[in-house]
Amino acid sequence: MSAVGVILGSGLGSFADTLENRKETPYSEIPGWPASTAIGHAGKLVTGRLCGTEVIVLAGRAHLYEGYTAQQVAYPIRELACRGVTSLVVTNAAGGVNLNYKPGDLVLISDHINLLGVNPLIGANDASLGPRFPDMSEAYSRDYREIAKQAGVALGLTLQEGVYAAVSGPSYETPAEIRFLRTIGADLVGMSTVPEVIAANHRGMKVLGISCVTNMAAGILPQKLTHQEVIDTGERVKDTLAALLRAVIPQLK
Ligand code: HPA
Repeated sequence: MSAVGVILGSGLGSFADTLENRKETPYSEIPGWPASTAIGHAGKLVTGRLCGTEVIVLAGRAHLYEGYTAQQVAYPIRELACRGVTSLVVTNAAGGVNLNYKPGDLVLISDHINLLGVNPLIGANDASLGPRFPDMSEAYSRDYREIAKQAGVALGLTLQEGVYAAVSGPSYETPAEIRFLRTIGADLVGMSTVPEVIAANHRGMKVLGISCVTNMAAGILPQKLTHQEVIDTGERVKDTLAALLRAVIPQLK
C-alpha cells in the first residue's frame, strides 16, 4: 500500500503527535541517517495512521548549513521511497519576500528556485530509481495545491501560492539579496526543502510544499532577524498547520 511522507520543518513538529498507532524512532537509531542538529528540530521518524492513510513523518531534517552534503540532506527520501511513499508533504519555515505576506501565513509552494549551488542528484545515476535528467516542470503538484486550498477554505484559511528560493545559509540574507530574490521571482526564502523535493521528483513522488512565513525577510521591516522569531512564529502556527495537514493528507493519492 502506498503511504504519505511528511517532512516537518523548524518548530512545526506537532502534527506527528496526532497520529494513531504512533511509533517513534530517533534518527540516531537508523543507520545512514543524517542527524539533525538545528534548534527546534526533534530528529525522529514517526509512523502512524490518519483516517486509514499510512503516514510516515520526519520530524526534523538535515540542512546544508549543518555541513551535510545535498546527497545526505536528501537521503531520507530514499528511505521514504523504500517504505512505499508516493506522496510527499514538505513543510518549512521561510522568510516572506512577497510584501503581501505577513508572519504566520501558510503559503503553498508553487515552484522553487535552487540557489544552493548543489543538487542531490549529482553523481552516478541509478536508472532503476529514476531518470538521469528528471523533469521539474511541476515539481509541486497542481492537484495537491488545489486539494490544500479547498481544505484551507473549510478551515477558514486563505492559502496563497508562492515561489520558494533556497539558499544555503546559515547567515540570513542581506536586504540587497532579498531585493535580488524578489526581482528574480521569489516570494519566499529558506534554507531547506529543495534537495528533498528534487530527490522526491527523481523518484516519481507527487509533492505538496507548505511554507510557514515565520518572519518578513531582511530589510522589509526596521528590525533584525532572529532565530527566536522563527521559532516563536512556528510555535504560534503549528497547530493550524497540523489541522491543515490532517485535512489534506487523507486526500493525497
Ligand atoms: N531567510 C532564510 N531562511 C529562513 C528565513 C529567512 O528570513 N526565515 C526562516 N527561514
